[in-house]
Amino acid sequence: MRSIAMRAATAVLLTSTPSLAAYNLVKEYSGQDFFSGWDFYGNYDNLTSGDVNWVDQTNATQSKLAYVNDAGHAIIKVDNTTFVPYNYKRDSVRITTQEYFPIGTVLVFDATHLPYGCSVWPSFWTKGENWPIGGEVDVIEAVNLMTYNQMALHTQDGCTQPSSVTQTGATGNTNCSADAGCTVAEKQPNSFGASFASAGGGVWATQIDSSGIFIWFWTRDSVPSSVSNAGDSIDPSSWGTPSAAYPSSSCNISEFFTPQQLVIDITLCGNWAGVASVYQSTGCGTGDASVNASSCYLDNVINDGSKYADAYFEISYIKAFSLSSPLVASASGGSTVYVSATASASGSGSSSGTSGSGSSGSNAGMPKAQVDAVGYVAFVGATALAAFSWMLL
Ligand SMILES: *[C@@H]1O[C@H](CO)[C@@H](O)[C@H](O)[C@H]1NC(C)=O
Ligand SMILES: *[C@@H]1O[C@H](CO)[C@@H](O)[C@H](O)[C@H]1NC(C)=O
Ligand SMILES: *[C@@H]1O[C@H](CO)[C@@H](O)[C@H](O)[C@H]1NC(C)=O
Ligand SMILES: *[C@@H]1O[C@H](CO)[C@@H](O)[C@H](O)[C@H]1NC(C)=O
Ligand SMILES: *[C@@H]1O[C@H](CO)[C@@H](O)[C@H](O)[C@H]1NC(C)=O
Ligand SMILES: *[C@@H]1O[C@H](CO)[C@@H](O)[C@H](O)[C@H]1NC(C)=O
Repeated sequence: MRSIAMRAATAVLLTSTPSLAAYNLVKEYSGQDFFSGWDFYGNYDNLTSGDVNWVDQTNATQSKLAYVNDAGHAIIKVDNTTFVPYNYKRDSVRITTQEYFPIGTVLVFDATHLPYGCSVWPSFWTKGENWPIGGEVDVIEAVNLMTYNQMALHTQDGCTQPSSVTQTGATGNTNCSADAGCTVAEKQPNSFGASFASAGGGVWATQIDSSGIFIWFWTRDSVPSSVSNAGDSIDPSSWGTPSAAYPSSSCNISEFFTPQQLVIDITLCGNWAGVASVYQSTGCGTGDASVNASSCYLDNVINDGSKYADAYFEISYIKAFSLSSPLVASASGGSTVYVSATASASGSGSSSGTSGSGSSGSNAGMPKAQVDAVGYVAFVGATALAAFSWMLL
């Protein structure tokens, strides 16, 4: 085991410069085919205690919660047309890619709208097969009426962000294994909420590399042509300082991260958006002295859904560029191995623990109180500590 002293000495020798390799296009989710290659959760939110049923693909299609619009963009949204009685949850969507992208990947996510509004908690993130082991990269995550995006890594103990690092964002917390993860707040304008949409959206590029994990954000009119016109390959070397930088000098990426699948989800309230102090400090229930743990749910989720007209992703495309091919996770003797996605196209051996399109575990019609009792699980994506760092900004 490395000592702290050795680690500090190593850090001095390594730079935080992202690796300069060119990456080849291995997967594109866009247009009419956007939703092929994803699994729909098909169960209530038993991960972050949110007040949603993440519907299966059949229901998502029938209820138009996941579809491709006339512009050819993918819409992923919260149900805003159904009357939800007290004690019940609202329908929403959580999808995961069947493919896993290895260390040595650049992900590009282009959207014109992100979900926002009181109680709304969206995320675009990646995770290893045996999550929370295998690492997690939160590329886009924010709650309620936050005006900026918050990025984070979540890992097992031993990964940190250096206290001094070359990035444009603001570090909130440096310990990647703490509940909040190692968080970085975007400082450029228009990275979330109404201003993201009115700016025409924007693009994130995430480099997951053995040299580190680096996240860039560009508002629409600043997207470099090397990103918007990327063809079969992409080269991060000209992108300059990233918004968030997690160099391998203090986080051994090969040790803490396994191949990553992509996740897009929207929950409501739950362990971050719904915490009373967070709810109020992020622009909701302001000036209301009676705000409490139920306010997020009572003030938004129930009744006619009219609070959710802005609770949708509109995604132009997601592209993955990798140094090698995407993989499919496969259990082998109690551990996970990854096989080439093309070689296993028949699907045999594919397994993805927390995803799946089956409806067996669904409880869409189950009362919320009962669901909360069986569904409360310690959280994972964000916590009151993240909110604390938000308030310090
Ligand atoms: C799908 O919709 C049907 C009919 O409303 C419902 O019974 C079922 O629970 C739903 N499944 C999911 C996973 O939401
Ligand atoms: C990071 O947080 C975890 C969980 O709270 C704790 O066990 C660990 O000691 C912390 N690591 C550092 C370097 O502070
Ligand atoms: C990083 O982790 C990998 C995989 O566990 C290991 O082979 C390598 O030696 C580690 N590098 C350092 C600098 O500790
Ligand atoms: C919690 O807040 C809601 C409004 O957000 C209010 O209707 C309710 O009475 C409050 N409950 C308590 C126990 O104060
Ligand atoms: C539901 O949201 C969509 C945008 O996603 C909006 O166009 C529509 O007007 C909303 N419907 C209602 C009934 O609020
Ligand atoms: C959530 O529900 C799904 C479907 O029932 C189940 O497979 C999974 O183990 C549950 N996860 C947790 C953390 O309870």
